[in-house]
Amino acid sequence: MNEVLSKEPTLSLPLTVKDIENTRINTVDFDNIPFGRVFSDHMMHCDYANGKWGNIQIEPYGNFSLSPACSALHYGQAIFEGMKAYYTVDGEVALFRPQLNAARFNRSAVRMSMPEFPENDFVETIRYLVAKDRQWVPKDANKSLYIRPYMFGNDAYIGVRTSEHYKIVIFTCPVGAYYSAPVTVTTASKYVRAFNGGTGFTKCAGNYAATLYPAKLEKEKGYDQIMWTDGLEHKYIHEIGTMNVFFIIDRVALTAPLDGNILPGVTRDSIITLLKDEGIEVQERPITIDEVMAAGREGRLTDAFGTGTAASVSFIRLLHHEGEEVEVPVDGQHIATKMKDRLNNIKTGREEDKFGWIVKV
Ligand SMILES: Cc1ncc(COP(=O)(O)O)c(C=O)c1O
Repeated sequence: MNEVLSKEPTLSLPLTVKDIENTRINTVDFDNIPFGRVFSDHMMHCDYANGKWGNIQIEPYGNFSLSPACSALHYGQAIFEGMKAYYTVDGEVALFRPQLNAARFNRSAVRMSMPEFPENDFVETIRYLVAKDRQWVPKDANKSLYIRPYMFGNDAYIGVRTSEHYKIVIFTCPVGAYYSAPVTVTTASKYVRAFNGGTGFTKCAGNYAATLYPAKLEKEKGYDQIMWTDGLEHKYIHEIGTMNVFFIIDRVALTAPLDGNILPGVTRDSIITLLKDEGIEVQERPITIDEVMAAGREGRLTDAFGTGTAASVSFIRLLHHEGEEVEVPVDGQHIATKMKDRLNNIKTGREEDKFGWIVKV
C-alpha cells in the first residue's frame, strides 16, 4: 500500500519535501466533517518565474503571504480543479480519471494566458500528496478526501497584462458523504454564464463569481440552481451550477455539446460512456429549452439529471422556464438511477473497471 511513499514519484520537476509530525488529525471528528473547512497535513506549492516552473514543494498545510498588488486579485488570472480520493471496497485509496483534470487544468491555463503545468507531474504530485496524508482519507462509504489544485497570477504589479509569476497550490480536505436531494432548476432570462468565444469551458474563478448574484436571486424565488442558457437567444441549454446536464427523452439521452460554452465534465464524459455501454443512444447536440419543456409536458421526459464530481449524479425533480413548471418524477428515473449506481460501483471497485478509469494511490 505504501508503494508510492517508498519510491519517489516520477516527476519532471525537482521535488522538495518538508514533513510534519502532526497530531491534528486526532482532533477531527470524521463522523461530522464540515465541508471544506478541515484541511489535511500537507499541501503542495510550486512557483513559476523566468519562464519556468521551480521545485514542487510538499510542506505542512499553512498560510502563505502575498503582495497586496498580487495580480490575480485584480485581473483574475485564477483557475482551479476539483477531484476526490476515496477508499475502494478492497481497502485501497484511488483517484478517478485524474489525467482528465490535469488536461482540463491546462486548457483553462491556456485560455487565461497562464503557463501549463506538466500533466504527469500534476497527477503524480496528487498521488504522492494523498499517499502522504493517507490517514486523512475517510474510510466510510461515500466520504472522500477532496483535492483542490489551483493556480493564480502572482506578479506584484498593477497593470493589465499577462503575469510573469504564478503559483500553483494543491491541498486536500476530508469531506463527508455528499447527499444531494433532488433539485429544482430554473432558466435565467436576464443573466448569462457563458457565450461563444468566452471562458465557459474553463474552470476560471471568474466564471463562478459571475454566477453567484443571479443564483442568489433565483434561490429567493425558491429554485435550487440555475440551468444556464446561451447568451444570444436564451434558447439552448448549457449546464447547471457546477454540473453538466442530461435529459432522457423517448429513451434517447441528450446533453449539450462541448462547443466552448460548457465545462467538459469528467463525470459527463463517464456517463456518456456508460449510457452507450447500456445501449442507450446519446446525442451531444444543441438542446432547446422548448423541446425539453414540451417533452416534460407530454410525459416523454423520463429522466433529468446533473453530473459532477460532488454528487456524481443529481436528480432534477422540477424544471422552470418563463413561468411554466414541469415535474420529473424522481422515482421514475430508472436510467439516471442505473447510471449513478454503475458509476459509483466502478469507482469503488464493486464493478469491474473495464474502461481503466481508476488510478490507485
Ligand atoms: C461549471 C461546471 N460544470 C460541470 C462540472 C462537472 O465537472 P466534473 O464532472 O469534472 O466534476 C463542474 C464541476 O467541476 C463545474 O464547475
